[in-house]
Order: sequence, then structure tokens, then C-alpha cells
Amino acid sequence: MKHTRPKGTRDFLPPESARKQRAEAVFRRCAELYGFQEAVTPTFEHTEVFVKSSGVTSDVVTKEMYTFKDRSERELTLRPEGTPGLVRAILENGLRIPCRLYYVGPMFRYNRPQKGRYREFYQLGVESFGEAGPEVDAEVIALGAEFFGALGIRDCETQVNSIGCRACRPQYHEQLKRFLTERSSELCPECRTRMEQNPLRTFDCKNETCQAILGNAPKPKDNLCSACAEHFQAVLAALRARDVKFALNDRMVRGLDYYSRTAFEYISRTIGAQDSLGGGGRYDYLVEDFGGPATPAVGFALGEERALLAAEQSDKPVVSRRLVFVIAMSDGERAAAGELLAELRKAGVPAQMDYDHRKPKAQFRSADNAGAQYCAILGERELAQGLVSLKDLTTGEQQELKRTELLARLAGQQMADSR
Ligand code: HAM
Repeated sequence: MKHTRPKGTRDFLPPESARKQRAEAVFRRCAELYGFQEAVTPTFEHTEVFVKSSGVTSDVVTKEMYTFKDRSERELTLRPEGTPGLVRAILENGLRIPCRLYYVGPMFRYNRPQKGRYREFYQLGVESFGEAGPEVDAEVIALGAEFFGALGIRDCETQVNSIGCRACRPQYHEQLKRFLTERSSELCPECRTRMEQNPLRTFDCKNETCQAILGNAPKPKDNLCSACAEHFQAVLAALRARDVKFALNDRMVRGLDYYSRTAFEYISRTIGAQDSLGGGGRYDYLVEDFGGPATPAVGFALGEERALLAAEQSDKPVVSRRLVFVIAMSDGERAAAGELLAELRKAGVPAQMDYDHRKPKAQFRSADNAGAQYCAILGERELAQGLVSLKDLTTGEQQELKRTELLARLAGQQMADSR
């Protein structure tokens, strides 16, 4: 029987796994430069954690959650996003606020798989808890843009909007609802429901007629209270001061229910229909809604697969791990080869050898299969003279080096690569 992976999942194998690892390393470095520290939370939570936060009117909660009962009848859900679990974790563990956390890990959404959209996908996210200033919004937005830049992604547009707060939104919702009600016969059935439950969600609709109608609808950013308007202008000024290029998008409201004030998204022009490389915003009420103290918060999550897709054209070549394959020309050199292998590893150089007593030719083949850059060859003559022949498999060049010289050179290269 042949086994296949479940629909919407993928395997990351070499060399793609090395690209993934590199993207995560770049992300960790960027996030840590801005003072974020890693948080690891479970991949599943009690279902209500998501229902309470992502929102009962969001597509994520209504259509996309992997929800199940465990053997003790607990209602659990594979996390569709990272934010709610982090809010739960800071409160449950009594973390001191303000705090800045980042995360890297798989998320799960039951949606229709297509290019850039999976049922299991990886997010790279940051969340700042307890910082209210508009400079923080700008800093978080800048961090995401910096990450894409570091990956060599040039065609990414940062879109920004403000969707107001609990003071100004109810009035705006009423206004939008009135506008939509007058045109309800032209709206798609789903938007008619959205209009009743959460009119803001109609902006997410892909239907062309709905989109055309919404083109003339009152926009959140034109209906902000003075505090929200001031905050938004300060975010934009801080972005300009940081030289972050952005575009205003007054129809972007984000698909989750917890946002307030700043909303932003990173849009790619080259990866196809699923063009959102990442998104985020402020969510100043979520911690309180979870039973915690009033805590302003802002963050984002970036789609790792989409970032890798966008980086494909501009990818700086992934530095191979400079694997060295130690080759014993005959059984007489095997013990010495084993010692050299241990010395290489001790010096921080990835190394491997054959233990199946294969002929030299087969060992060279194994080195190639393993993706080694070098073969360190030990024959009878090399052994007698305290030498090693080093063959670079990428250029075909071969030279004889003293053992100590070989170790110093390869360890030096390894250090330079990891910088
Ligand atoms: P989101 O917009 O739902 O926000 O997802 C963020 C990013 O995850 C998307 O822009 C996209 O790149 C990626 N993504 C989402 N669904 C899929 C999928 N099915 N396949 C591949 N990639 C996908 C959030 O998740 C919020 N938690 C972001 C946030 C953090 N807001 C504040 N803090």
C-alpha cells in the first residue's frame, strides 16, 4: 500500500528544508534585534481559546478549524494562528508586562489548498504586550519589512489602515450597516449574513459585485474618533521617519475579530492569488477579554511558505553546510579515518563516513548523495606521511594538507559561514 501525505500538507526535504531553516534563522535574528524573545506554546489549545479571540464571525473559526474531542471528551483545536495561545500563555504563566515575544511554528486551517495556501503551514510571528505607543506599531511593521528585505524579497508592499476602537467602531458599524442594508438585495448571501453579524467582514468578500458596492461604502479610517485618528497619524509619521515605504489601504480590515486601530498587511506581487505574505495589527482588548488586565498589544504573523515562494527568484544561494565525507581507501585506514571524523566534529565541522566497508568509488558516490562539499581522503601513503588529501567536490580540485592544517582551514570556513 502506498501512503500519501494528507491533502494540504507538505514535506520539507533537502535542499528546501535548508531554505526553511535559513528563513527561520533570519527571522529569529531580526526579532531578537528588536528585543523579542522566543515563546513556544502547544500546537493545540482548548477550542474556546480561539472562538473567544479569532472571533465567532471570522472564517477561521466558522469554517477552518481542526476541532476534535480527545479521549476524555475535551474540546480541542489545532491552532489556526499563534496569537490566542500566546495571550493564554502570558496570563496563565503570569508573565511580567510589557513583554515582547516571537514564535515560529506550524498552524492548521481547513481551507481549499492552492499555491501558497496549505492546511498545515508555518507562521513566523511577533507579539508585543503592554506597549501602547504608535511608535511600537511602526516598529513592528518595520520589523516585518526588514525580514522580507533580509530574505531578498523586493516586491513586497506594506499596506496600512486603521479600523478604530471600541469608542468609535459601534457608530461606524451602524453607518456601514445602514449603507449595506440599503443595497442588501445586490449583496451575496454570505455578505447579507456578515452585514448583520459583523458588517466589517463584508470587506473580506471576494465577490465582484460586493466589492464594487464596498468601493462606495463609508470607510473605517474616515470615521475614527480623535484619539484613533491621532494614533494613526502618529503611526504613519513614525513609519516615514523610519523610511518604511507603505501604502494606505482603506478597505483592509483583516480577517480576525480582535483587531483595533492599526491593521497592516504585506502584499507580494509575484506569488499568485494568495498574495498576503503576512499581516497583523493592534489588539488592545484581547488580553482583557481573556480575563487579564487592560493590556495594549500589537503583533503580526508572516506566512513562511509564502515568504519562501517570494524569495525564490531573489534567493541568495543557501550556504551548504560544508559537509566533509571522510574516505578510507582501504580497511587499513579505517581507524585513522574514524579519528579524523571525530576531530572534525570536535572542531565544529559537519562530517560523515561510510561504515559499510564500501569500495572507494562507492564512498565517493555516498559523499555526493549526502551533499558533501569535501572528501577528506586517507590512503596508505597519506597515513604514513601524516597527510590528508582534500578534494573539493564542487570544483574537483584536490590538494594534500597536514592534518592540523586541514582542521584549521575547515573549522575557519565553518565559523565564517555561521556568521
Ligand atoms: P492571518 O492574516 O490570518 O493573521 O495570517 C497571517 C499570515 O499567515 C497570512 O498573511 C499568510 O501569509 C499566512 N497564512 C494564513 N493562512 C495560510 C494558509 N492556509 N497557508 C499558508 N499561509 C497562510 C494571523 O494569523 C494573526 N495571528 C496575525 C497577528 C499576530 N495579528 C496580531 N498578531
